[in-house]
Amino acid sequence: MTAVSLRDVRKSFGPTEIIRGVTLDIAEGERHCIIGPNGAGKTTLFNLISGRFPITSGEVLLNGARIDAMPPHMINRAGLSRSFQITSIFPRLSVFENLRCALLWSRGYKYSFWSALWRQTALNDAAQALLEDLNLENRRDIPGGLLSYAEQRALEIGMTIAGGASVILLDEPTAGMSHSETDYAMALIRRVTQGKTLLMVEHDMKVVFDLADTITVLVYGQVIASGPPETVRASKAVQEAYLGALEE
Ligand SMILES: Nc1ncnc2c1ncn2[C@@H]1O[C@H](COP(=O)(O)OP(=O)(O)O)[C@@H](O)[C@H]1O
Ligand SMILES: [Mg+2]
Repeated sequence: MTAVSLRDVRKSFGPTEIIRGVTLDIAEGERHCIIGPNGAGKTTLFNLISGRFPITSGEVLLNGARIDAMPPHMINRAGLSRSFQITSIFPRLSVFENLRCALLWSRGYKYSFWSALWRQTALNDAAQALLEDLNLENRRDIPGGLLSYAEQRALEIGMTIAGGASVILLDEPTAGMSHSETDYAMALIRRVTQGKTLLMVEHDMKVVFDLADTITVLVYGQVIASGPPETVRASKAVQEAYLGALEE
């Protein structure tokens, strides 16, 4: 079963074509990494899949159904959730409240219902469980903005998975992290995406080759290679694009 399918997807901003005919299948349960130089269009591709920007042409399917004309929240309801390259938590809300917000949204509640839902124990229990999954129990009541950088990213991942989506898109989740923070983040990502389909943009080649079942290389808006790590590593086109950076 294919979780996400792209069929000749194209995206232009003004006269410039940024995504130039991407066709890709992401199998259900797969850990799929997208790599490529800066400006290749990786984030744009995520914006197209998650519905943030409309595609110029082509098709995007989630579990076999077209999603390319759907607004982001509908795509989210259909089971696809993404994080952003830039940290997007609520800095003034506590860690627990951040998680509770993410859970509420994923269930489609509106702001005005918050007070009525405040005592809803199911919601609190779910937020508490998520807090424990993230190993952030001892941070429960402090504002998200006061967490360390790595903890903020962990919280963000928690908010991304809160709705129980089966397909998770993470855009450079280890950007700006030290080695030990990266190890911590990757252990967390492995744990919380168990049994889900993970599509991840990542720049750290060690992380990519440790994690990925499949690697897709995007260069200048086109897929130049896609396959198991060994195949991609051996690809001449990839080696040329990366000038030997994969040979460490
Ligand atoms: N909203 C936008 N409007 C115009 N150009 C954009 C927009 N978003 C991205 N781009 C351009 O698309 C190209 C690819 O960007 P991006 O997808 O962020 O690359 P990557 O994530 O691979 O580094 C860049 O040249 C960028 O300037
Ligand atoms: Mg990017």
